[in-house]
Amino acid sequence: MVPIITIDGPSGSGKGTIARLLADRFGLHCLDSGALYRLVGLAAERASVPLSSVDRLVELAAGMEVAFREGAVFLDQEDVTLAIRTEQAGNAASRVAAVPEVRAALLQWQRNYAREPGLVADGRDMGTVVFPTAGVKIYLTASPEERARRRYNQLKEKGLDASLARLVAEIRERDERDSSRSVAPLLPAPDAQLLESTSLSIAEVLERVVSNVQRVYPVLVKQGA
Ligand code: DC
Repeated sequence: MVPIITIDGPSGSGKGTIARLLADRFGLHCLDSGALYRLVGLAAERASVPLSSVDRLVELAAGMEVAFREGAVFLDQEDVTLAIRTEQAGNAASRVAAVPEVRAALLQWQRNYAREPGLVADGRDMGTVVFPTAGVKIYLTASPEERARRRYNQLKEKGLDASLARLVAEIRERDERDSSRSVAPLLPAPDAQLLESTSLSIAEVLERVVSNVQRVYPVLVKQGA
């Protein structure tokens, strides 16, 4: 069995950052499953496919040509790294992610990422649905206010305008949609380690996860550090 580490949690909990750092630390593959939903959302918007056209959404999800290269994301050979990170793309992703047939279309695709020497996968249902037999499952969270504050700082750093109050409201709304949908809702797996990161630094979260990984998968060796 290939070592698999899943990191689930709400938007802004830092799971993407932790997943990438962890994959680098152990030299593992990394799957950003949220990017796949963002790509479907973007493709649907661009092709003006409404959410009610389930067959067309599934066609888009199954037919997208996606490539992840050196930190960049390509959709049908176009670099969409920035385009999929906007709030608008995040909201579109959250909507298409609530369509069961879209989730089904992406399931095997995600499972194909489980290859030697191992995988770190982040998302909402990595530990519950996509990789239920993963050896390490983390559920990372932080308060909505803290997650909005992190997002606010990121946007400000990029010189973009942002309203903290609006970000808190959007995060609450997205949490509500992701948690209340009927398929693969945002929920910790029963065997997940819960990590509340509101008052922890990235390095502190990473060290906790690293020690858990080493306990479960002693075969994995730290690279560099
Ligand atoms: O992690 P993210 O913000 O990039 O995810 C974008 C949206 O995709 C999010 O609102 C929920 C959805 N998503 C999902 O339903 N299942 C996943 N495994 C990953 C993301």
